[in-house]
Amino acid sequence: MYKTPERNASPGQQLIDRITGYWITQVIGAVARLGVADRFAGGPRPSDEVARDIEAHPEGLYRLLRGGVSAGLFQEVSPRTFALTPVGECLRSGVPGSMRDMAIAQSDPAHWLPWGQLTQAVRTGRSTARAALGSDAWEYFSQHPEEATHFARAMSNITSLVADEVPRLHDFSRHARIADIGGSQGVLLSAVLRAHPACRGILFDLPHVIQGARACLEAEGLAHRVELVGGSFLEPVIPAAEAYLLKHILHDWDDASCSTILRRIHQAAPEGARLFVLEMVMPDDGEPSPVPLMDLNMLVLVDGCERTAREFRAMFEDASWELERITPTQSGVNLIEARRR
Ligand SMILES: C[S@@+](CC[C@H](N)C(=O)[O-])C[C@H]1O[C@@H](n2cnc3c(N)ncnc32)[C@H](O)[C@@H]1O
Repeated sequence: MYKTPERNASPGQQLIDRITGYWITQVIGAVARLGVADRFAGGPRPSDEVARDIEAHPEGLYRLLRGGVSAGLFQEVSPRTFALTPVGECLRSGVPGSMRDMAIAQSDPAHWLPWGQLTQAVRTGRSTARAALGSDAWEYFSQHPEEATHFARAMSNITSLVADEVPRLHDFSRHARIADIGGSQGVLLSAVLRAHPACRGILFDLPHVIQGARACLEAEGLAHRVELVGGSFLEPVIPAAEAYLLKHILHDWDDASCSTILRRIHQAAPEGARLFVLEMVMPDDGEPSPVPLMDLNMLVLVDGCERTAREFRAMFEDASWELERITPTQSGVNLIEARRR
């Protein structure tokens, strides 16, 4: 069904391709979860040989690989022998640009089940996480460590797309302490600290997330420059710093919670502190864009939303932050800079 050449396909066929899009998500998720792409790192291999390596059913894996061809991940270079395409290469683990953890997290229950109830979210205007998972997403992750690790690593996958660009957009060397609030495994903070060797970092996130971040910072050789702080940014426990990073946090929350988060940071921040928010910005010209789909992701998962530039400005103003500049990055998120008033 997938990969019908759109130019020749009827509107009905084009629609079928979109309707069955979730098949593709699960094909990619299964390839990622089974570690299939890593087995093709050295070049083309027979499907049956790989099935033995990963202890999969030979016919089952062959069928998955053929589905992977339809999804653009593999080529069948000779009968039952497959090779990775450049897109499939991104499902290998530990390579630059790897999206393996993103593929696993997006096909995990925490994402998959709330999306299955989108119709209900549209009826109520509320997240379906509680109905689908039994609790809100953050509580669910605290009770499901394996999925929480997938999610944290998925965030690292996508944050690595923008992390090295951020220190090129602002000279962080003038800030002694840089705190990444809700910083997960510290990919963004690490990029800023690598670029500015005199700065010190503070990584703040929920306690169970912070526990998992230590090993990542040690692997980067940066643990000695980073203070790890576990806590909730909804409480008055945010550490003081001259600059704050806040990436993909505000879109997780409704306006009232965003106001609390921005005020908590304001309370902790010294005079003249700077805030660097990284978020998509919702276009207000009606042009097609990926942002509305992320907005629905926020609706079903967490009662959050994507916001226009005007909405960000008003929200910052209300919490005593003066929005100075919005700079697009190559990865689709924007660097939104603000100064403490
Ligand atoms: C969408 S992820 C963004 C992670 C990271 N900033 C990035 O972009 O890669 C949201 C982060 O907020 C954290 N978080 C959720 N609720 C929190 C709370 N009440 N206090 C602190 N962190 C929280 C999550 O654990 C998660 O790491």
